[in-house]
Amino acid sequence: MSARILSGKTIAEAIKSEVAAEVAGLKEVHGFSPCLVVVRVGEDPASAVYVGSKVRTAEELGIVSEHLHFDADTSQEKIVEVVTELNERHDVDGILVQLPLPKHIDEREILELIDPEKDVDGFHPINTGRLMQGYEGLVPCTPAGVIEILKRSDIDIAGKHAVVVGRSNIVGKPMAMLLLKESATVTICHSRTKDLPSITRQADILVAAIGRAGFIRSEHIGEGATVIDVGINNVSDVERAGELFSNEEIEKRLTAIENRGFTLVGDVNPREAMEKSANFTPVPGGVGLLTVAMLMKNTVVAATIRRGV
Ligand code: GUN
Repeated sequence: MSARILSGKTIAEAIKSEVAAEVAGLKEVHGFSPCLVVVRVGEDPASAVYVGSKVRTAEELGIVSEHLHFDADTSQEKIVEVVTELNERHDVDGILVQLPLPKHIDEREILELIDPEKDVDGFHPINTGRLMQGYEGLVPCTPAGVIEILKRSDIDIAGKHAVVVGRSNIVGKPMAMLLLKESATVTICHSRTKDLPSITRQADILVAAIGRAGFIRSEHIGEGATVIDVGINNVSDVERAGELFSNEEIEKRLTAIENRGFTLVGDVNPREAMEKSANFTPVPGGVGLLTVAMLMKNTVVAATIRRGV
């Protein structure tokens, strides 16, 4: 069997067109454009790429955006001051502080300082609490994007066994809550789970959010499952790439390693997942694209709720 590939690109494009139409409507009817401010501290190269993509996409859709970048040695007090000002600015609808923050910054203090109404990442305890209680609100973008992929690909969630591997605050935990809200039977696995394959093999929907390249293999996947790969890892070893990719894919990957020094790989072994699963999200081109699209959607949601339109 060869899995159906669930294209994040097509689904992200559909969501972005819906958001662009909503943004145009807000301007026409209510005379404002939603505004997103992204705060980045330090020089993490992946963060620079992600933030660039967020700001660019916002502009494409008619959302006003600002990118505030601070040196790696910026003090906690300064970041507190910046977020406080953004909280107070009436024109700002969404505030996103890109993670990871430099080690000397207290991430929790900063995330808890963001006005929950402007928390487009959905990381504030008020918003995670609401999610836990099953209320609508600002929901973390990556797990929200996974739900969109499932729904827009006509994959039933209600009554299905969903297994989430990973328990981070950004993906694993909110993912489990959203699947529960959709009436899945949810199991959360993590690094201390005993006999992981025996559990993940039972999954109708398997979500991998572990942070280890190609960790989920054939033995973890039940025949006919839907496998959602949330991981983004760099692989630079040619031999390792050979273990992960099929004959059709390998040439492109080796060229990437030669040209850029690495190729992007998820948490799932794509060659084995393609053989064993019924539906599979590729990396790149899968869940990652949805994260940005859902951030745009959250910005519009935040703007309409806060401005009461
Ligand atoms: N770093 C990696 N993923 C994310 C995300 O979704 N939001 C923020 N703010 N930082 C991240």
